[in-house]
Amino acid sequence: MELGAEIGRRLGRGDVVALHGPLGAGKTTLVKGIARSLGIVESVTSPSFTLIAEYEGMQEERPLVLYHVDLYRISHAQEIADLGIEEILNGEGICVIEWAEKAAEFLPDSAIHVDITIKEGGERSVEISGLSGL
Ligand SMILES: Nc1ncnc2c1ncn2[C@@H]1O[C@H](COP(=O)(O)OP(=O)(O)OP(=O)(O)O)[C@@H](O)[C@H]1O
Ligand SMILES: [Mg+2]
Repeated sequence: MELGAEIGRRLGRGDVVALHGPLGAGKTTLVKGIARSLGIVESVTSPSFTLIAEYEGMQEERPLVLYHVDLYRISHAQEIADLGIEEILNGEGICVIEWAEKAAEFLPDSAIHVDITIKEGGERSVEISGLSGL
């Protein structure tokens, strides 16, 4: 949650965050932290059935949309295209994607990548690339 909030504070409009990590790594939890940093009080859950959840956040006193995408159930690139993800990726909101490797071909070069690894004993190791200050 805290790391998510730290990441969230450094995000700007139009940013795309690609989350990687095995089942139960803590991807959704990280999104909850990002949401909190954007002033979103609504509880963030896994958008398993909708695949894309949309939250109204605030940044510097201006409204900002957080899109939470979960591609776990997606198996073909065409399904991702059908979701209308390109529109979201090119929009003004912040887009955070779980299982982002499935959408590799759609991600902009500017995407911020976050890799979560579960270490022995359950501790998490998190590698972040493309985000200045972390
Ligand atoms: N940094 C962390 N350290 C220890 N436990 C964590 C951490 N982050 C999340 N967890 C716990 O791990 C479990 C799975 O978390 P979460 O649902 O966020 O993972 P996920 O990567 O989104 O899973 P899925 O692959 O199913 O989408 C939850 O019980 C959560 O509380
Ligand atoms: Mg999840």
